[in-house]
Amino acid sequence: MKRIAIFASGEGSNFQVLADACRQGEIPAEAALMVCDRPTARVNERADRMGIERFTFSPRDYASKAEYEREIVRRLDEKGIDLVCLAGYMRILSDELLGAYGGRIVNIHPSLLPAFKGAHAIEQALAYGVKVFGVTVHWVDATLDGGRIIAQRAFSYEGSDLAELERQVHATEHPLYVETVKRLLNE
Ligand code: GRF
Repeated sequence: MKRIAIFASGEGSNFQVLADACRQGEIPAEAALMVCDRPTARVNERADRMGIERFTFSPRDYASKAEYEREIVRRLDEKGIDLVCLAGYMRILSDELLGAYGGRIVNIHPSLLPAFKGAHAIEQALAYGVKVFGVTVHWVDATLDGGRIIAQRAFSYEGSDLAELERQVHATEHPLYVETVKRLLNE
């Protein structure tokens, strides 16, 4: 049985669908570890409710990013993780993680990359007057949302309601992430 780790910083709806799909056997893997850089994030409760082991830390408790990433790598190694899925993990990865797990880390981003990289992709696309929105699953490298694209899905939206648009983005992300992770693990 393969093992995935899911990294998140916030709500964790993508964590939830990946973890559920693993548990239901739709993704052929165990969700073996959740990694979170914010102790107050809702995703921690979700992991606890599912009985999924987690490593939650505060970056300020470490001298450097290299130091906490070394700790993350140690825990990934311990679990024998095959694939790392970033799901709203709001940090750029550095050499420690990329050196150890590069080529085995994917991310989901709420835009049709390479448009609208960074933390405010949905708001920026709406402000720009975009009519065709979408989401992207891509390999992670040292650049911000810049790694090679694995999968994308688009949808039309002509309104101006941010909350409704965010709802549609999530509704597009969830099945795409599950399908893509499943495909990668079967390759
Ligand atoms: C998602 O929109 C994802 O694309 C972005 O962060 C958001 C995380 O949402 N990287 P959630 O925490 O999974 O609900």
